[in-house]
Amino acid sequence: MQIAERFRANSRVTLFPGDCREFLAQLPDQSAQLIVTSPPYNIGKKYEGKKRVLDDYLEEQASVIAQCVRVLKDRGSICWEVGNHIVGPQEVLPLDIVLYPIFASHGLKLRNRIVWHFEHGLHCSKRFSGRYETILWFTKGDDYAFDLDPVRVPQKYPGKRQFKGPNVGKLSCNPLGKNPSDVWIFPNVKHNHIEKTIHPCQFPVELVERLVLALTNEGDLVVDPYMGVGSTAVAAVRHKRRAAGAEIVQEYVEIARERATMAAAGLLQTRPMGRPVYQPPEKSRLTTSVNSQPPLVHVNGNKPDRNGRVVARVSKQGSHH
Ligand SMILES: C[S@@+](CC[C@H](N)C(=O)[O-])C[C@H]1O[C@@H](n2cnc3c(N)ncnc32)[C@H](O)[C@@H]1O
Repeated sequence: MQIAERFRANSRVTLFPGDCREFLAQLPDQSAQLIVTSPPYNIGKKYEGKKRVLDDYLEEQASVIAQCVRVLKDRGSICWEVGNHIVGPQEVLPLDIVLYPIFASHGLKLRNRIVWHFEHGLHCSKRFSGRYETILWFTKGDDYAFDLDPVRVPQKYPGKRQFKGPNVGKLSCNPLGKNPSDVWIFPNVKHNHIEKTIHPCQFPVELVERLVLALTNEGDLVVDPYMGVGSTAVAAVRHKRRAAGAEIVQEYVEIARERATMAAAGLLQTRPMGRPVYQPPEKSRLTTSVNSQPPLVHVNGNKPDRNGRVVARVSKQGSHH
């Protein structure tokens, strides 16, 4: 697969190595069906006043968002994924709150504020640990593309039937599955995630896949102005959409190229859509409090266990197993 550096209407994938405003300027009006991104949150230079830094950040975001609105098709969507910025000691600024008015000023309509919940991250000691980010999903108009069926998730009670009324005995829920709701639970890309690269804050591909499948059709153009290591391009090409994006860090661009190429060839491994979040087995060593475990003793000649320790349990009689 050819990957272009500058946008051309017939390119399947464009990865522009540079500033997203220069990239967006290459895109024609109304060319993208979906713009999905996670912008940088870096507004925290301590030597500048808090307000000044935030104003600069929002001004830059406003110029990017204005370009995005220009290139968005009438039935298209913009999904802006952000978290909190830490503005001072233990003080958080949810970026979606300050970004919402910029989108609203262009007449975009908010369809969902999706909460993406994940389980791993920094442990806070002076406030509750942050375990979600949000995706603001806007459409340009009231007539917009939205297809629920490809992103339905399993029903909780798929065998439940109507027990009265004219439909008695019929299934009471949609056999294709239920609406995934506006709370999405996907593992974030930490060290043991199959998609992990050197990038510190990648999208899980399954998150972008859900948006691509619900909001676009095959052949549509999906744009990510802050492409990182190309998770959006991966999701787009995997589902036969075209992809275009920009990234200023050359090392990330190269990884994005490699991942998009592998995805197009069906060779890139990602966490499959629909896989439930891993639950460790009950009563395993790791899920049992150490206080309720029998003591461990070292045994000469035993091989180390998974944690590198040579151990055996002491039975009630005190013999080794
Ligand atoms: C939050 S990360 C996005 C990660 C991406 N979603 C992924 O899955 O890899 C934001 C990215 O924007 C890039 N970036 C920052 N400013 C940029 C600009 N003006 N133009 C293009 N890319 C930029 C950063 O280098 C970073 O990789």
